[in-house]
Amino acid sequence: MRPMLIHAVRTPASTEMAADIYAGLSRPGQKELPSKYLYDEVGSALFEVISALPEYGVTRADERLLRRHATEIVAHLKSPVIVAELGSGAGKKTRGLLQALSHHHRQRTSYYPIEISASALAMCERELRDIDCLHVVGFEREYLDGLLEVAARRRQGEQLLVLFLGGTIGNFEHPAEERFLRQVRDVLRPGDALLLGTDLHKPLPVLLQAYDDPLGVTAAFNLNLLARVNRELGANFVLENFQHEARFNTAANSIEMHLRSKVAQSVTIPDLGLTITLHRDETIWTESSHKYTREEILRMAQVSGFHCRGQWIDGEWPFAESLLIAE
Ligand code: AVI
Repeated sequence: MRPMLIHAVRTPASTEMAADIYAGLSRPGQKELPSKYLYDEVGSALFEVISALPEYGVTRADERLLRRHATEIVAHLKSPVIVAELGSGAGKKTRGLLQALSHHHRQRTSYYPIEISASALAMCERELRDIDCLHVVGFEREYLDGLLEVAARRRQGEQLLVLFLGGTIGNFEHPAEERFLRQVRDVLRPGDALLLGTDLHKPLPVLLQAYDDPLGVTAAFNLNLLARVNRELGANFVLENFQHEARFNTAANSIEMHLRSKVAQSVTIPDLGLTITLHRDETIWTESSHKYTREEILRMAQVSGFHCRGQWIDGEWPFAESLLIAE
């Protein structure tokens, strides 16, 4: 029998991704790979699994708050309202809120999920299509590009509600989160709303388990970034030569993910014309996840041009949902 040849199908990386990865890996000092590239099809699927892990309470807390307080939250909004969600994922957590909204306002509501992952967007559209009076139009875009398109579609008198849930704001490096919220604010009109989900401080052992779970799902999520660079840029990262690491940065109040090189090695990325060397125990930093205090959220809202209309905190897993109004 002849041996079967398996040809790997290469999806080439975008020029932006290639430039970001070149910059992150060739910089002097701490090497890094931007966390937004964790979410290709495999990474998005692994993140869905992380969300279901008993050690990772973020997504469940977010969902619980939205389920329990949906009626209260939508009562703060005007009518008619249109909803844009930055990074909708598969749309599961937003369901209760959208149902409450269509029930409360008793009129057709437009919902615009904005996602860079085409597969997550398709799942989101499928997940929500049965909600009465809900019109779903997905945008496969970066957050701000998508938001600008939604804002351009709004009609006179409609309030725009932006959802930025799941604690993703914590993945921005300070002060990028404030800059980002100000950019969101610039797209909005006074009186528009932003519902912001933020993960709060909690004991260190709880955090470390959440970002380094015993099943190794978070490790696979992190290592997939190297696999993605292999797939899309032709690199020769040997995954077995790296170890997932979660560590707490006390000065920044952030939990960080790194990929630790187990050996001294060099890696070539032909599409970037780049060869990097890593010494044993050197790490590639792949993500920071900031943990907030309630006061910090209020301050961040204020410097970005919002005031806080309401805040809901989960009792099981410290996490806050804050309804911010554009000034
Ligand atoms: C998407 N984001 C809010 C997650 C977090 O908790 O920072 C990403 C994540 N990284 C590891 N586990 C989950």
